[in-house]
Amino acid sequence: MRTVLITGVSAGIGHALAKLYLSRGFRVCGISRRTPAELVDHPDMIFVQYDLTRFDGISAVVDELLNRAQIATPEILFLNAGGFGKPPQRANETSIVEFQEILAINLVAVKAVLDACLSRNERPRCVAFSASISAIRPRAGMLSYAVSKAALNALAQIYGIENPDVFFAVIGLCNVDTKVARTILQADDRFDELVALRGRATTIPGYLSSPDERARHLAAILEERAQLGLQSGRFKEIRELTHSCSN
Ligand SMILES: NC(=O)c1ccc[n+]([C@@H]2O[C@H](COP(=O)([O-])OP(=O)(O)OC[C@H]3O[C@@H](n4cnc5c(N)ncnc54)[C@H](OP(=O)(O)O)[C@@H]3O)[C@@H](O)[C@H]2O)c1
Repeated sequence: MRTVLITGVSAGIGHALAKLYLSRGFRVCGISRRTPAELVDHPDMIFVQYDLTRFDGISAVVDELLNRAQIATPEILFLNAGGFGKPPQRANETSIVEFQEILAINLVAVKAVLDACLSRNERPRCVAFSASISAIRPRAGMLSYAVSKAALNALAQIYGIENPDVFFAVIGLCNVDTKVARTILQADDRFDELVALRGRATTIPGYLSSPDERARHLAAILEERAQLGLQSGRFKEIRELTHSCSN
């Protein structure tokens, strides 16, 4: 049975990806802190509730999921779990603790899950990172998030060079109506660009994609990655691939 492993399945894009792949007959292995109540009873869903910032236990969690699925590795690994933290604040106002918390889930946990999968007997054909344009276009108010996503791009590029047998898709997911986006849109008047973004998001119909729509886009891009000329380990914004976003 074709299997995907997705981190962050309780909400947002990861939840939508889990629903999509289950509806397409895949087995889905999922991890998050909250239980996705409406997915866990699906016969093809294998779920472990876990805080991915507890790095030491990640290898055991990945082993448990894949052993329960009776497979050596998933076909696609979605490294999706992530967060933004508090609403936008200036860099110097961001405490070290807040900064570390975002790097922990957006970057260090990604490496830990990836290493756990790559160390198994077989390797995934494709690893998809939930990347962000903020990595290459940082905006005021977004220190922790932008730094974590910039480092994620570097991480993906290095793993891509070192592991040519695996395809590393680094797709900027762009304006999806989730907690991450809604937190960014809470920016106060000090953050002009984010205020302007909120203006577009609230006045232009369809400006924010739904998680379901974005999950379909991402799945289609991964299937068509060769035709689209996607390069392993290289960041690409989803709107350049789908023309569905317009900011
Ligand atoms: N929304 C956008 O416009 C956008 C754009 C570009 C990139 N992204 C990226 O897409 C990814 C998904 O975000 P989203 O927008 O779908 O936001 P979301 O709705 O807040 O979903 C985040 C998911 O990550 C999980 N997660 C967070 N911290 C975790 C932890 N410590 N341990 C385990 N799981 C954890 C959450 O589950 P629990 O809270 O239950 O643990 C949740 O399932 C993130 O990496 C985000 O940076 C989003």
